Amino acid sequence: MDCCMVTALWSFASVYALLHFLCFIFADADFTLLWSSLFGHRPENKLKGLVVWITGASSGIGEELAYQLAKCGSCLILSARREDELNRVKRGCLERSNLQDVDVLVLPLDLLERSSHEEKTKAAIQFFGHIDVLINNGGRSQRSLCLETSFDVYQALMELNFLGTVSITKQVLPHMTQRGSGSIVTVSSVVGIAGAPLATGYSASKHALQGFFNSLRSELSDFPNILISTVLPGPVQSQIVQNAFTEEVTKPVTAAGNQEHKMPTSRCVRLMLVGIANNVKEMWIANQPFLLFYYTWQYAPTFAWFITNILGRKRVQHFKAGLDADSAYFTKPKTS
Ligand SMILES: NC(=O)c1ccc[n+]([C@@H]2O[C@H](COP(=O)([O-])OP(=O)(O)OC[C@H]3O[C@@H](n4cnc5c(N)ncnc54)[C@H](OP(=O)(O)O)[C@@H]3O)[C@@H](O)[C@H]2O)c1
Repeated sequence: MDCCMVTALWSFASVYALLHFLCFIFADADFTLLWSSLFGHRPENKLKGLVVWITGASSGIGEELAYQLAKCGSCLILSARREDELNRVKRGCLERSNLQDVDVLVLPLDLLERSSHEEKTKAAIQFFGHIDVLINNGGRSQRSLCLETSFDVYQALMELNFLGTVSITKQVLPHMTQRGSGSIVTVSSVVGIAGAPLATGYSASKHALQGFFNSLRSELSDFPNILISTVLPGPVQSQIVQNAFTEEVTKPVTAAGNQEHKMPTSRCVRLMLVGIANNVKEMWIANQPFLLFYYTWQYAPTFAWFITNILGRKRVQHFKAGLDADSAYFTKPKTS
């Protein structure tokens, strides 16, 4: 190879690396997802006419999923515990789209009542004839220190986030394997791959989901048309903090701060739909500097531990001062 060729290759590699670096500074998702959003299939084309079942559809990410999928022309099954809220979301779907009343089924469901899941799944399949996409989105977070948290909270988190999700998945999966196609998309979290103070039980439940679905994906390698996808959002605007578990199962959250620093729900959901339309198996979705955190955990775990300890201390300090722990990196605790 002559000198000119080497120089040209170095120049090309440098420009390529610089472009990636610049993209990364402004990125709000991993590169596979971002490339799919630029060059891949559009959700409007791929998801039109598909039957999508969303759990946790009564607020936050699930509600926005319903609206954006309705605009794409998907038929919807909306599930959560609060039927009145689901009916409100259904009305919102019909207002925003060309869907008819019969295209959206409100199917109240409690993820904790596992004995009802078979009957609910049958009802969903009977209504539309089949299910193309299951989005396991329903769940609750946690804001409490391990030392002060009752064991019941840990049990409730695993029952809801992990076992409830596994239960619905196990009802829907045989239907998809019989048809030889379908997508099961599960909303995990950044704390499904990293740890976070005040969320020991929540993080454990999301790690459990990661382990379950990563194993299931490889178990289903004989079914190339079944997508098993996990979504790992960072902080996103929703009701998650207000609805989080605390030290006791029945104790509500007292300090839920503003959401300005969090990603808008609409952007998170748009990226999720791009991921589903393009068969992305794992989606990292977060604004900077949170996105950097995923990459650090993946590629430099020792450094990630160092950073996590520094940031974690700040988060715990905020929490102990009675402030919203989520704002810890953006505001200073007041000192008297
Ligand atoms: N927002 C974030 O920053 C963030 C970040 C990472 C991951 N996530 C994940 O995103 C998902 C959606 O959360 P969100 O942020 O949209 O919070 P959210 O606004 O609180 O929505 C949670 C949804 O889950 C439903 N739900 C709670 N308990 C349920 C139960 N026992 N049975 C059935 N449904 C139940 C709620 O409906 P009902 O109360 O009507 O049942 C609600 O529709 C969760 O899995 C969460 O862990 C969120």
